[in-house]
Amino acid sequence: MRKEFPALQQEINGKPLVYLDSAATTLKPNSVIEALTHFNKFETANVHRGAHWLSDQATIKYEATRKSVADFIGSSTEEVVFTTGTTDSLNLLAHSLGQGLKSGDEILLTEMEHHSNLVPWHLLSKVKGIKLKFIPVTESGELDLSDLDSLITEKTKIASIVHISNALGTVNPVEKIVEACKARGVVTVLDVAQSISCMPLNVKELDCDFMAFSGHKLFGPYGVGVLYGRKSKLNELPPYRGGGSMIQQVELEDSTYLPGPQRFEAGTPNISGVIGLGVAIEQVKTWGFSAIAELEDALTKRLVEAVSSVEGIKLVGRPAFRKNVVSFVTDWGHASDVGQLLDQQGVAVRTGHHCTQPLMKKLGITGTVRASLSVYSNENDIDRLLEGLNKTRKMLI
Ligand code: ALA
Repeated sequence: MRKEFPALQQEINGKPLVYLDSAATTLKPNSVIEALTHFNKFETANVHRGAHWLSDQATIKYEATRKSVADFIGSSTEEVVFTTGTTDSLNLLAHSLGQGLKSGDEILLTEMEHHSNLVPWHLLSKVKGIKLKFIPVTESGELDLSDLDSLITEKTKIASIVHISNALGTVNPVEKIVEACKARGVVTVLDVAQSISCMPLNVKELDCDFMAFSGHKLFGPYGVGVLYGRKSKLNELPPYRGGGSMIQQVELEDSTYLPGPQRFEAGTPNISGVIGLGVAIEQVKTWGFSAIAELEDALTKRLVEAVSSVEGIKLVGRPAFRKNVVSFVTDWGHASDVGQLLDQQGVAVRTGHHCTQPLMKKLGITGTVRASLSVYSNENDIDRLLEGLNKTRKMLI
């Protein structure tokens, strides 16, 4: 898989790049890069509106990606909305689901949500007087489900839950939460931004009503993402953005709208991005999730061991089920200094709060150093991180 990623051929600060920031964004394989270039060079045309060959071809490819996404997540094409990413998908839901809520209604989230699954609900709660409730996080960085039944009340209308924590790598038992919510008639939303690239996700098995992810964390382009919506629920939602392509009929003073998914795709979409996402999905299928999991699970174990072996390092979160992410603090240096010194050695990690400030607060820290893996990671990357951390420690103590 590694040879497909040209970014890994380069040196950074005079050293071969060790890319351990895949939780922030995955590198892009040649197939995706070439598809984007080819579309932009030779196939550029708008979709759903042209009367010419190029426009027809663009429309065919755009809609073929909807089918690829639908097959990839076990849905129908009518349930796949193209958005600009996870954040956009969740904002759409907060806006459109929110219109059906009233003051005093409750939304269930968790303390480990990324800001993208917090702030849209904050905006809604301020306008509508909605109460937000949170499944707590334990010291080991896992969800504490012991009070789940009492957290869900007759006022709970929506539960929006992260599948894999971007900050800690915890794999949450979302099936259990969805089941409990469904039994009480609560609409369920899953943020699968981190899990979409590392495990097969089937919306029928997950049984969620909505699911959000981004292309750029799935080896695809930036500015494209997906909102899955169960057909019956999606078609009930009012539009989010208005404009061309989402209407049935427009009069000067009013308009009517198409059903989903077109109702939610106003204006010219990110056509090349969508087509690139389709290529990324085909690429993932070629690799296969069993090979991906075998590689990543072995590397995650090695990464945990390597980081834990460095004197003065404390892992943040020790979840029983973890994928691809290890976060840590050191007693010899601030996270941002550690990140900078690793960068000088060609090792790219992320430092800070990882857009999860409430989680950091709960864990009593302001931030971590985070190393994260993907399909192109290897043992040498982990050895170089270990070497880099030991060297950094010597520089800082
Ligand atoms: N959500 C991305 C991360 O975890 C940006 O780094």
